[in-house]
Amino acid sequence: MCGIFGYTGEKKAAPLVIDGLKRLEYRGYDSFGLAVLDSDLWVWKKKGKISREKPPVSRRKGRTAIGHTRWATHGEPSDTNAHPHTDCRGSVAIVHNGIIENYASLRQELLGRGHTFRSETDTEVIAHLIEEHSGGDLLTAVRAILPRLEGSYAILAVAEGYEGIVAARQGSPLVLGIADRACVAASDVTALLDHTDRVIYLEDGDVALLLPPGPTIWHGGKRADRPVRKVDWEVEEVRLGGFAHYMLKEIYEQQSVFSTTVRALYAEPVPDVLKDISGITLVACGTSYNASLLCQYLVEEYCGIPVRAEIASEFRYRTPPGDDLVVGVTQSGETADTLSALKKARMHNHATLVITNVLGSTATRVADHTLYMRAGPEISVAATKSFVAELAVFFYIADVASGGRLRQSILSGHEAIGEALLEDLSPAVDICKDAGSIFFVGRGPFFPLALEGALKMKEITYIHAEGYAAGEIKHGPFALLSPMTPVVALCPQAESYPAMVSNIREMKARGVPLIVIGDGKSQELRDIADVLVPLPGEDIVSAVLGSTVLLQLLAYRTAEALGREIDQPRNLAKSVTVE
Ligand code: F6R
Repeated sequence: MCGIFGYTGEKKAAPLVIDGLKRLEYRGYDSFGLAVLDSDLWVWKKKGKISREKPPVSRRKGRTAIGHTRWATHGEPSDTNAHPHTDCRGSVAIVHNGIIENYASLRQELLGRGHTFRSETDTEVIAHLIEEHSGGDLLTAVRAILPRLEGSYAILAVAEGYEGIVAARQGSPLVLGIADRACVAASDVTALLDHTDRVIYLEDGDVALLLPPGPTIWHGGKRADRPVRKVDWEVEEVRLGGFAHYMLKEIYEQQSVFSTTVRALYAEPVPDVLKDISGITLVACGTSYNASLLCQYLVEEYCGIPVRAEIASEFRYRTPPGDDLVVGVTQSGETADTLSALKKARMHNHATLVITNVLGSTATRVADHTLYMRAGPEISVAATKSFVAELAVFFYIADVASGGRLRQSILSGHEAIGEALLEDLSPAVDICKDAGSIFFVGRGPFFPLALEGALKMKEITYIHAEGYAAGEIKHGPFALLSPMTPVVALCPQAESYPAMVSNIREMKARGVPLIVIGDGKSQELRDIADVLVPLPGEDIVSAVLGSTVLLQLLAYRTAEALGREIDQPRNLAKSVTVE
């Protein structure tokens, strides 16, 4: 969702802020802008993408600037609604991530006192509220107006005649970086890596003044000490490195991601929180939910522990059962629905664990315990390597809870990923690219994979796709089957194989083009399928990992054939920080 970036230091700030905004592009946005503090305050903003619009900053010499990438919530994407927003006199500029829920009443109040509004956004009220305190300095003004704001925010503010940047956080992510004779701030750590690996995660309610050599932070009127953490991600990890898209790069990184996550987990003693569990409730969204559903099948099958996977946004309407361990699964650690679900679990006195990829993310502060998935920075909006890292964690949990039944297959799991990466999917892509709608089907643990295959396909190709439990297709969706609705069927050599074969025969009889992922040597599958994609490996770990990679590549290659904007699909954001 929206991204914010600020720089104050010894260098010309505008180009650095533009580079910072480019690093945040992956979060998804429709417009952007920046404010540069010089002898006056210069603001420039535009609908569209940074690479196309080229902000005219060559003559801007100021050493303090803030910038924003906007993902519209209040007011359409437009030049006027883009951030920064200013007060009536144009002497204060604000960038904001989050939603001010009481903005309508504040706006009425401010209009009544003679303020002039230019945009339809909720954010603009903040600039006008600060204007009313212009007798004091910017820091005092920001601290004075924050109690008036209801909702969530990460704010950066600058003002004419005031040195530095004022930052505030409540419910939206904001990270500060301590660089060489500079202070930086951003919505996430990947944008700071060009400047520093020393970061401070602000807490809700914190207000900070950013000035070199480092920020000063206040909380509840008092000075607050926040730990400086060292980020172990390298700047190279957020570069494309010769790949056409981040998604492809991240798909290819999965072999090493799987091994790294597995090695790190087995290198430590089993965390106490995973011992003697009587039940698990997993809460997650999107791809992380699909991984959680797969965990449900695995852990129930191998350990006999009751597990349920819940869509995090629905969890608010449910009561967590008994004394389940509630596990939030979230790559970003910032997904609002997952954070709310974890908070609800805590309110009901459940022990909570978060499985996340981002050190210091909000979820790590909400949950009692944290397990890191170690996928490295994931830039493409479509989650791939974080899914595989989540699976690595779930295989590990199933293994330790079952007394080591999966250990050998886990240790060789990366091989199946490597083999799947070598498959030529062109015949399958030829079928998918012209489809009006695609069904993905599987049974058992391969049903969540069918959901994930469909999710990947729809989000980056814009072709309607549905994941289904294969046995469920004949209970309604059969009505939709035709030569225009290809079916991608996951048919590994598993307990479900005979039933899968019956299901795909039934579908084939309705004229669908059939892509089967299964045993490449099977004459039976060869006879039924229009395209048979060989699935590497024979055990459950290899079959799950191999299928995952093949489904990701199928979506990627289809999107490529259609010329889609793969890393930043329309209307989507990487990290969904509103409920
Ligand atoms: C799909 C995708 C989303 C995320 C979802 C949860 O490719 O990326 O569905 O999986 O928004 O995000 P996290 O895992 O960060 O909570």
